Amino acid sequence: MKTRGANFDLWFHASPGATEVRDDGVHLWNCDLDDTAGGRAAGESCLSAGERERATRLKNETARRRFVRGRAFVREVLGRLLGVAPRALEIGVGANGKPHLVTPTSPIRFNVSHSGDLLVLVVNYGAEIGVDVELVASGSDLLAMARDHFARPEVRQLEAAAPDARIEFFYRLWTAREAAAKLSGYGIARASAETAAIAPRLEVCHFELELKSGRPHAVGAIARVGRD
Ligand SMILES: CC(C)(COP(=O)(O)OP(=O)(O)OC[C@H]1O[C@@H](n2cnc3c(N)ncnc32)[C@H](O)[C@@H]1OP(=O)(O)O)[C@@H](O)C(=O)NCCC(=O)NCCS
Repeated sequence: MKTRGANFDLWFHASPGATEVRDDGVHLWNCDLDDTAGGRAAGESCLSAGERERATRLKNETARRRFVRGRAFVREVLGRLLGVAPRALEIGVGANGKPHLVTPTSPIRFNVSHSGDLLVLVVNYGAEIGVDVELVASGSDLLAMARDHFARPEVRQLEAAAPDARIEFFYRLWTAREAAAKLSGYGIARASAETAAIAPRLEVCHFELELKSGRPHAVGAIARVGRD
């Protein structure tokens, strides 16, 4: 399935499925981190020593299980795309924690986001990419969060909006900012300065995911640097 974003096509993939991706769009996979099909051991065996060590430090069983499943899923998808075994992938992290492929060398860029039991992986050819996904939570004090993080005009727009429109507007802004921050890899703390430099070429695409019935739906944004 494909959706047309403002600036680029976004391809949704059945998990993990695809063995190649077109280089003219962005590709998205989502994973239910609480789906234990395949077993825990199978997931763990493809993790790196560092990932297994990080897993053992997670004392909360749910967090640990989700971490292992998420890392295994990312490795499985990237491994299929690159034609290598998931455990053979070497994934490094930048100075601010952004993961990237070390081995094999490839023009593929990826980024990951999770919210509760949902993980989203996006892949792009060539240009860096950032993603943020959020399960839409009812009952959160969105205005309070907005006042802490958004500019005054945006807060005023939110205050004036009807409740349904307010939720949508809030999550669009929130996820777009997070995605842009994750594109640069600097996180929110230094993102403003960094994203200002790439702002003229910044491309953002919003998406929605319908999850299993009875689950909140998820919204997200993807940011990438467009081609010259
Ligand atoms: C990295 C950051 C941008 C994202 O954090 P988050 O929204 O809590 O988490 P997400 O689930 O979207 O992303 C986490 C994943 O992104 C990746 N990641 C980690 N550091 C990253 C970085 N510097 N840049 C890009 N991606 C990063 C990792 O794959 C990580 O997964 P892992 O925890 O399993 O290793 C975080 O450092 C940050 O700055 N958060 C600030 C939150 C905030 O104030 N938001 C205000 C919104 S307006």
